[in-house]
Amino acid sequence: MNFIQNLALKYSHIMMQQSLRKGFNVKLLKQGQEKIPNSSKEYMLYAHIPFCHTFCPYCSFHKYYYKEDLAKYYFQSLREEIKQIKDKGFDFTSMYVGGGTTLINEEELIKTLELCKKLFNIKEISCESDPNHIDPKKLSMFKGLIDRLSCGVQSFDNRILKKVARYDKFGSSEFLQEKISKALGILPIFSIDLIFNFPSQSKEQLLSDLIIAKKLAPQQITTYPLMKSNLTKENIAKALGVSIKDNEFEFYQIIRDFFKDYQCNNGWSFSLEKTKLNDEYVGSHHEYLGVGSGAFSFLDGELLINAFNLNDYSNFVRQKQNANIAKANFNKKEIIKYCFLTEIFSGKIEIKKFNQTLECDLKKDLYIELLGLKFANAIYEKDGCLYSTSFGQYLFVVLMKDFYTGMDLVRAVFRDDVRLKNKDYIDIMKEKVNPLNSANMEFKAD
Ligand SMILES: C[S@@+](CC[C@H](N)C(=O)[O-])C[C@H]1O[C@@H](n2cnc3c(N)ncnc32)[C@H](O)[C@@H]1O
Ligand code: SF4
Repeated sequence: MNFIQNLALKYSHIMMQQSLRKGFNVKLLKQGQEKIPNSSKEYMLYAHIPFCHTFCPYCSFHKYYYKEDLAKYYFQSLREEIKQIKDKGFDFTSMYVGGGTTLINEEELIKTLELCKKLFNIKEISCESDPNHIDPKKLSMFKGLIDRLSCGVQSFDNRILKKVARYDKFGSSEFLQEKISKALGILPIFSIDLIFNFPSQSKEQLLSDLIIAKKLAPQQITTYPLMKSNLTKENIAKALGVSIKDNEFEFYQIIRDFFKDYQCNNGWSFSLEKTKLNDEYVGSHHEYLGVGSGAFSFLDGELLINAFNLNDYSNFVRQKQNANIAKANFNKKEIIKYCFLTEIFSGKIEIKKFNQTLECDLKKDLYIELLGLKFANAIYEKDGCLYSTSFGQYLFVVLMKDFYTGMDLVRAVFRDDVRLKNKDYIDIMKEKVNPLNSANMEFKAD
């Protein structure tokens, strides 16, 4: 990286923090807000399954320990919310089920996916799982329902698996390889999720992870840079230590080079064949509706946040009330920036199409930003399209990482362990959010 690129990286990082600070001006809602469809828009449906058998130290996703009764009750509420969304007139062409561990109760998930396929014009469904739920017999039950399944492996290195407490829960590297090889070919797309840049991870350990993943030959391999937020950094340090040297840029170059012969779906997902189905639904769909506890919806420039607490969530839904408890509004420029980032992350933006969809003039609206990115050699323009360069690919990975880490600010505020302190909501937020200096949110009761 040259001096200008280094500067561009730091500047973009600061700009992203500022945008998050401005954008995450979260307002609490006394009453959930109605979600209204616009018939000219295409939406994606996101459903959250917040259960895991065990928790991993690096993970900040919204989840509870799995209990069968609790999960069954939750799935019933989820299906109720889905029916209510249908009654409001929404339709979806694709669905992303995230977690947690979405396959944790197969029977309930099947009922839920079948309902979605019956109610909406859904053509593709993506789900996430841990390695304990990928037995061929169980996966076969999802034939015709799940089109893409991503399985969290994180690393094939036994030392790392032990450190992140996954060795005892999900098995050794050898066991995982065996399990994955049997799971392949049952559903159309199987993706292996890896994480890179663990503190003290060596170049050899990274290369070995990549070689093993490639040898298994799943249709997709996703390599996330380790994301550390204020929610997880202490646990990460306890489990893995603190990095003396940050290898993120160097390791990312190794990964890009290693997957030269693969199709890039986006900055961190590589496929044997080009596919629109990958981990980043925010890139393929500007607007999405989230159902389930802790799910986010992005509709008409507003981020709506569903109740995190399972009881609150189920009570809202069963009383036929909207399940969202807070929202954040974004101005037009913030929306254009957000859509620009999530699209350029896949490597290319068709300017005309982008302008039509967002009713904007990208080159005018983001004039300064695009000039800076071109000057730093992060993007270039050709035949009406913007493309990311090799440096741009890394820059946008860093910004996406920043964006997801920023989402943890919202999670920090609404998590049960914070809320259950039996204090006034606002006080809790001020207390919890203020120490997170990186992006102070402002809270207002509506
Ligand atoms: C929501 S998790 C669900 C996966 C599944 N429950 C499992 O553990 O195998 C989806 C993926 O996000 C990635 N992930 C979670 N926390 C991360 C972090 N802090 N940094 C980078 N990637 C992370 C992991 O690769 C994980 O497999
Ligand atoms: S990585 Fe997967 S299993 Fe681990 S806590 Fe996160 S969602 Fe649960």
